[in-house]
Amino acid sequence: MNDDSQVQAGPEAGSQPLLLQAEHVQLYFPIKYGVLVDRTVGVVHAVDDVSLSLPEGQTLGIVGESGCGKSTLARCMVRLLEPTGGTMRFRGRDITHLGRRPLQPFRREVQLVFQDPSSSLNPRKRVGQIVGTPLQLQGVGRDAARARVRELLDRVGLNPEHVNRFPHEFSGGQRQRIGVARALAVNPKLIVLDEPVSALDVSVQAQVINLLDDLQDDLGLSYVFIAHDLSVVRHVSDQIAVMYLGKLMELSPSAELYRKPIHPYTQALLSAIPIPDPQENRARERQVIAGEPPNPISPPSGCRFHTRCPWATKVCSEVEPPLAEYPGGHLAACHHPRNVSPAEISAAARSPLSPLSSGQLMPGGEQASASGPEESSESQVTARTGGAVDAPDEEP
Ligand SMILES: Nc1ncnc2c1ncn2[C@@H]1O[C@H](COP(=O)(O)OP(=O)(O)OP(=O)(O)O)[C@@H](O)[C@H]1O
Ligand code: SF4
Ligand SMILES: [Mg+2]
Repeated sequence: MNDDSQVQAGPEAGSQPLLLQAEHVQLYFPIKYGVLVDRTVGVVHAVDDVSLSLPEGQTLGIVGESGCGKSTLARCMVRLLEPTGGTMRFRGRDITHLGRRPLQPFRREVQLVFQDPSSSLNPRKRVGQIVGTPLQLQGVGRDAARARVRELLDRVGLNPEHVNRFPHEFSGGQRQRIGVARALAVNPKLIVLDEPVSALDVSVQAQVINLLDDLQDDLGLSYVFIAHDLSVVRHVSDQIAVMYLGKLMELSPSAELYRKPIHPYTQALLSAIPIPDPQENRARERQVIAGEPPNPISPPSGCRFHTRCPWATKVCSEVEPPLAEYPGGHLAACHHPRNVSPAEISAAARSPLSPLSSGQLMPGGEQASASGPEESSESQVTARTGGAVDAPDEEP
């Protein structure tokens, strides 16, 4: 990675030192085929040139549809996967290609909590062994480890007396608490939570989120919190990254994103969240994203969302939009941004977090403004007339 392409900070970095930085991170999975000799016949563009950063003590939410690359990015962050391009930094140190031994100190500082507590906990081990194993690996003595396990169980709201129970003797929410206790055992600085509450009932989700919140306050933890939908990450995130088909579509301070979503994909995700008031819920305008996500082996040209976007024009399929910087530390990659004034569009600068493959064309630029909605691509016209997409009344 050359110096020009280094990414120093995200929109919410402020004065906090950066704990984690992804700089143009790319993970392509090779597709192998062959009887005697495996040949690479293609690649899955799971994560494609994503740049963002996480300041210490903060939470970064990552959302997007299934298959958009959230877990792959998470695994690159904790270095369970080695990126095929770009740079991962932890406390400023390049960890992208570190081997097993040099990674050991990093492994203690970063932990991963998985979505499904039942499959991530060994069913044949007692809770005490599950939570205590990371301590033993660190060389903590038996008695000290036993005391620490009880303390950890208590800390996550479980009865320390249940130390000899097996995972199946706990409820789903309690099993996720065990997963959190295991992650906390090594005193990490960062916990990457990959859909930690998706498998839980709504009321239990709230309890686990409250627990994570308290732990963050008490222990000064930083989180990367992955979820399918924006309702879950709303109250826990300082900044939110919206991903689509391996790309970063929008990156914004949390409150700003909900108040003023700029990217059409984010707008559609937000409109899918039910509002508690049934009348208000019925009255509001829904934007349903038509169709299935395109194949990540051969993603669409230009803006990857153009095959499903109600605002797509010709330029969208030809030029990949860069991430433009709008007021409030709000970044979005769209040729026809929503919820921003013409003055804000003309003042927007190209963010250094923009993918290297994106064009120089800024929203409101010559080509973008020349391609009106009348020139919409064929796929878009189909979506509009087919009734699958309730496009907003306003035209781009
Ligand atoms: N080991 C692998 N080999 C090949 N392709 C993979 C591999 N792991 C993931 N993929 C592909 O990479 C893309 C991103 O997958 P990923 O699991 O990161 O998505 P996700 O956003 O976490 O989805 P979900 O919300 O369903 O968990 C998908 O197209 C997936 O099929
Ligand atoms: S308007 Fe164009 S650039 Fe913006 S999201 Fe839609 S397709 Fe992408
Ligand atoms: Mg996933």
